[in-house]
Amino acid sequence: MGRLLAGKSALVTGGASGIGRATALAFAREGAQVAVADLTVERAQQAADEIAAQGGRAIALAVDVTDDAAVGAAVAATVAAFGRLDCAFNNAGIAPYQVNSAAVTAGDLEEANWLRLIDVNLNGVWRCLRHEVRQMRAQGGGVIVNTASIAGKLGLPGSAAYVASKHGVVGLTKAAAIDHAPDNIRVNAVCPGYITTPMTEDSKRRRGEQIVARVPMARFGEPEEIAEAVVWMCSDRAGFVTGACWEVDGGYAAR
Ligand code: NAI
Repeated sequence: MGRLLAGKSALVTGGASGIGRATALAFAREGAQVAVADLTVERAQQAADEIAAQGGRAIALAVDVTDDAAVGAAVAATVAAFGRLDCAFNNAGIAPYQVNSAAVTAGDLEEANWLRLIDVNLNGVWRCLRHEVRQMRAQGGGVIVNTASIAGKLGLPGSAAYVASKHGVVGLTKAAAIDHAPDNIRVNAVCPGYITTPMTEDSKRRRGEQIVARVPMARFGEPEEIAEAVVWMCSDRAGFVTGACWEVDGGYAAR
């Protein structure tokens, strides 16, 4: 069987860690050339080196998705390296605890913390999508997958900004899918449940049993399990799939 992304070029934000890193590796395994983008080029380079060690082709880029010029430069650098941009995985994101030291209610959130979380998780995805669409339109098409969350479908306690940001990603995904279907650009989202990554390390240690008790499959997912869904959505096998926001969550959101 042929590789799912043979000959394609891909960009992954938040590609140095967790879900992004696993997806960058899976993209390469399926034949894509991959630009791994993250806050520091050193961390992105580690993932790129791992891809190269497995026989793939990758470059490392520094990007902060809150900086529109840097996002534009990352898309341009990907195109300069590989000639085009077929698949974009807009995955960079932060958790509530990265802006608030403890869980706070919606009414107690500080404005600066709300704005920061929305700027990374929602505005960051939009900035990436905007630059990617311009390139994909010019080249005749492409595929975008955004990382939302089960928090894009459900409310969760103590996480209002995160939940709002991920519901925003779901809305942006649907609207952009409609807008850009005529451009031959498919836009989808993946909605992970609880996945074992550095982001969830602390909550898994402190209340892993409590979390798992709410998951029908009774475990955390692995980043590679998200990567498989993203690879498929980026492949030509998903040719009629656009505007979909797909839970990969062990059944969490089915309750
Ligand atoms: P992670 O913390 O392992 O990886 C996130 C990566 O994004 C890091 O390498 C970080 O440096 C990068 N990043 C953060 N801010 C950035 C910025 N401003 N510009 C560029 N890169 C930036 O986390 P994980 O778990 O892999 O999360 C990836 C995505 O998946 C996030 O959007 C997260 O919200 C989402 N997600 C994660 C779940 C989980 O259980 N781990 C569940 C649902 C969604």
